[in-house]
Amino acid sequence: MTTTTGGHLLKAEGVTMRFGGLTALDDVGIQVAPGTVVGLIGPNGAGKTTLFNVLSGVLKPTEGTITWKGKRTGKTGPHRLARAGIARTFQGLNLFPMMTVLENVIAGADRLAKGGALSMVTGLLGHHRDECVIREKAYATLQRFGIAEFAHHFPGMLPYGIQKQVALARACVGDPELLLLDEPASGLSEQQLDNLADQIRGFSNDMAVVLVEHHMDLVMKVCDHIVVLNFGQVISTGTPEQVQADPAVTRAYLGEPAADGGTR
Ligand SMILES: Nc1ncnc2c1ncn2[C@@H]1O[C@H](COP(=O)(O)OP(=O)(O)O)[C@@H](O)[C@H]1O
Ligand SMILES: [Mg+2]
Repeated sequence: MTTTTGGHLLKAEGVTMRFGGLTALDDVGIQVAPGTVVGLIGPNGAGKTTLFNVLSGVLKPTEGTITWKGKRTGKTGPHRLARAGIARTFQGLNLFPMMTVLENVIAGADRLAKGGALSMVTGLLGHHRDECVIREKAYATLQRFGIAEFAHHFPGMLPYGIQKQVALARACVGDPELLLLDEPASGLSEQQLDNLADQIRGFSNDMAVVLVEHHMDLVMKVCDHIVVLNFGQVISTGTPEQVQADPAVTRAYLGEPAADGGTR
């Protein structure tokens, strides 16, 4: 593994994110070591997606620092961070509806392309050698995820569980070192959940994972370490056992209005 910060790939310190008068993140810290699965949990509106947006460079935090492999990310945008090895999936699917499954995955392979994979899909600035290598890699990734038979389908025509796998394949095709998963289990069947748990543990052989998820069974099964957010603040951290036994965590969840299935 390349340079780390005190053994950590990613370290966020004192991260505060304000949207006008609303403080979505308040002095949040999180550390991710190589090969670990870190769970990020908390009620709806706690700030989980906002933290992902900060970690992936989509949002610049109002305060605080992010360090990736020993270097401050500062003003580094999402495109550069993706190239540097941070990949993510989105709450919901965020697949490109007018592109086939294979093209969607190719679009995630930007890290492997000199000219940029997206430009390759759109037919601009295509670099022939890149194009062959990336197409093969994308297809191999579809095979690895068991969805190669859908390569030439449009995602909207496929069952939701398959679309979720396409989103995962798109995030993994560039061999990221850190994978941020925002509610990958939402809308999946029990059997698909079991499969996802195995997949996430498998990912941790090759990369670190941060998992935002409401399915507690899944979180407790796959995570090495858990960070609990509530109203933008870290209210608990520790192993799954420690966090489950923490009364502050129970209070945060019981204080939440009836679960709405995690649609936010
Ligand atoms: N772009 C934004 N502008 C204004 N408020 C936002 C924005 N993004 C998120 N928020 C607010 O920040 C808080 C945290 O949201 P979010 O990170 O989506 O929570 P979670 O993912 O934990 O459900 C919520 O109150 C949400 O309404
Ligand atoms: Mg969210």
